[in-house]
Amino acid sequence: MADGDYVIGGIFPLHYNQEMPDINYTYRPAAVKCNGFDPRAFRWALAMRLSVEVINQSGKLLPNHTLGYKIFDSCAYPLTGQRAALSVLNGPFQAHAPMCSSASPLLAVIGESGSAQSIVVSKSLHPFRIPMISYFSSCACLSDRTKYPNFFRVIPNDDYQVKAMAQLLLRYGWRWVGVVRGDHAYGLFALQGLLRELKGTGVCVAYQEMIPLLYNQQKALEIIEVMRSSTARVVVVFSAEGEMTPFLKDYMEQNVTGIQWVASEAWVTASVFTTSKYYTYLGGTIGFGIRQGQIPGLRDYLQMVNPVRYPSNPMVQELWEALYGCSPSPSLSPSRPLLPPCSGQEAILDQHSAYMNTSSPRVTYNVYKAVYAITHSMHNLLYCQPGTGPFLNHSCANSNNVYPWQVQHYLQEVDVSIAGETIKFDWKGDSIPYYDIINWQKGSGGNIEFITVGVFDGTKDPGKELVIQEEKIVWAGHQSKVVVSVCSASCRPGFRKAVRHGEPLCCFDCVPCDGGKISNQTDSIDCEACPEDYWSNADGTLCILKVVEFLSHDAMGIALMVIAVVGACLTAAVLGVFLHHRTTPIVRINNSELSFFILLSLTLCFLCALVFIGEPTSWSCMLRHTAFSITFSLCISCILGKTLVVLAAFTATRPGDNIMKWLGPKQQRFIIICCTLVQVLICAAWLIAAPPFPIKNTQAYHSKIILECSVGSQLAFWCVLGYIGFLACLCFILAFLARKLPGNFNEAKYITFSMLIFCAVWISFIPAYVSSPGKYTVAVEIFAILASSFGLLFCLFAPKCYIILLKPEKNTKQHLMLNKK
Ligand code: TRP
Repeated sequence: MADGDYVIGGIFPLHYNQEMPDINYTYRPAAVKCNGFDPRAFRWALAMRLSVEVINQSGKLLPNHTLGYKIFDSCAYPLTGQRAALSVLNGPFQAHAPMCSSASPLLAVIGESGSAQSIVVSKSLHPFRIPMISYFSSCACLSDRTKYPNFFRVIPNDDYQVKAMAQLLLRYGWRWVGVVRGDHAYGLFALQGLLRELKGTGVCVAYQEMIPLLYNQQKALEIIEVMRSSTARVVVVFSAEGEMTPFLKDYMEQNVTGIQWVASEAWVTASVFTTSKYYTYLGGTIGFGIRQGQIPGLRDYLQMVNPVRYPSNPMVQELWEALYGCSPSPSLSPSRPLLPPCSGQEAILDQHSAYMNTSSPRVTYNVYKAVYAITHSMHNLLYCQPGTGPFLNHSCANSNNVYPWQVQHYLQEVDVSIAGETIKFDWKGDSIPYYDIINWQKGSGGNIEFITVGVFDGTKDPGKELVIQEEKIVWAGHQSKVVVSVCSASCRPGFRKAVRHGEPLCCFDCVPCDGGKISNQTDSIDCEACPEDYWSNADGTLCILKVVEFLSHDAMGIALMVIAVVGACLTAAVLGVFLHHRTTPIVRINNSELSFFILLSLTLCFLCALVFIGEPTSWSCMLRHTAFSITFSLCISCILGKTLVVLAAFTATRPGDNIMKWLGPKQQRFIIICCTLVQVLICAAWLIAAPPFPIKNTQAYHSKIILECSVGSQLAFWCVLGYIGFLACLCFILAFLARKLPGNFNEAKYITFSMLIFCAVWISFIPAYVSSPGKYTVAVEIFAILASSFGLLFCLFAPKCYIILLKPEKNTKQHLMLNKK
């Protein structure tokens, strides 16, 4: 401590461990015994001392005044931190004074390190309205002005750190991460903040583990087991050296590898972990380091410290013990186990990085900034122009009696630039958010070096804060490839995510999009339906126009066409043969005129099959059914006529019957025309009322549009078919009656047979027609037309042609009449 006109306090965790004194409230508790000297915190304390000395010497700030300081040890423990705070208020000799009267005017406190300690220190100082500036407490909880009105800090609030961390995780596609934290306010609030930031980002936390405050190996091994067995390869740690050191020791003993650590600012630049043995396990660690800066003269100042120079300072003793493992003057520390003596002149080398790391001071630099912030506030306070002051009636503070709350006012207003960096506090006491992104890489000696690979500048626009030089990064396992840490690999386009029941959102299955739906991005949540007339491609990634299908001039169309034309030609050929042999008995005996008619209409029947092939248009649709039905009616009417004639001819042989008179050629024609006319009328009514028209059928198939003819009126369609069926049945029945009638060439047999075939074809057509899809409906119809036409052609004309062409000797009247009984 050093006296001065204005005194500031400093609280540092000079030891990282303490023995709890026995407190039973029956006697005065013994002084706290701290052990485990922390050279790093000692450096921070020295930085404070140096800054104060420099300020006093230079005289630029606070001329004619001196700054004093009091530094206390918190032993990195909240309760001891509170003792330190009270000691700062009282002065060191409180034990000897009957009352706390020796208190010197304390204006501000620099401290504490850990947030948990800062909370108690702030609460202890609050009643006295003494402002404090923390150099390392980043917990977001401390930004609550109603609870901690006297709290300022020169380290960014953790809200920014967790935001940056969430961005980092997203940037590297780490969607499945574990979180390990220490059991303190810092760990708790940082974890909560991280979970808040990760909500809705698609990053899930696989596990959250807490290292207990009182380190416990069994619990640590449990945590390590969780880390080993989890598929999350990335682990975020909010913890400090205190608990990380034993934890990492156990971690290394368990020989777990392949973990990518993401470090919080509290341990990312901890020099304890720089030794080479850590590299295999911790190399590649990435994290957020607080801003660094240069403190002029720090290096020399630290090097000047040695036990010879400060023989009575127990801290320097402990520093030597910690750095060299020897005791310069054993008499000063009798309680500690005996260490080999040493001269105290040993040179402090750079390898004592815990103490000597001055190349990139971060927390040390924060201490420096805090001292300057206070000094500048004091300076502004003292150089207040009377009458323009900020206090009641524009008064200024009285330089002989400065109150801490007045300092707080100026602290809140302070806005100075130190080495190009602005120091100021927002209304919550927070400073400007800025982090270096630090990557742990292998140094020349196999040790770990902290390489800055980017920055997070919270003052930039959202989304632009994080700037990383990717090429500089070395990942865990000494790789240049980013570690993959996902619960489920992402879904390709054409698939969508299906969340697994009871598991976090990051764990999902990929299911292919249903037909007609697509997803064109990776990791789609849903498949989109294609617009009308479009359908998904096989991969489910694109909507493509549906194929328009109709029976066209493809293989099937052409085959049917050929068959139809062949049929027509064959019929024409038969007609030719009959015409040529029209004088022969076999043609004449069987009513040649009707035969010619039948052949003609059969030719038309074959030809009307052609109308069914090709793209349906309104004309072809109308033509299709009408042409087909009329030609078929004509054909069957002719056959019916013939049957009637046969029937009449034989029944007429009975005496007294005059039936043949009624069935002369005129009457025959009349019957034929009448029968056909009925069909013509039905068709005319159909065409007028509800004509068939082409439609696009999108229902039958999802993936294609079928261009087909709608019949317009189902009733008309089935009437037309029914009428043909009726004629055919009538014909069949009559022919059946006449089949047994005598005559060597009784046509009735053949007509019966042909009608049987005809009916069979059309009856089997109905189910086939109703059930066959798309263009096959049309094909089935054509097939039925062709089959029935061929049936008629062969049954009725093949036997006659056989006789005419191959057995002309049978083609005589005698022969034909021969067997007539
Ligand atoms: N930023 C941490 C905090 O606010 C740094 C820290 C210092 C720390 N000492 C600690 C964290 C001890 C946990 C334990 O607390």
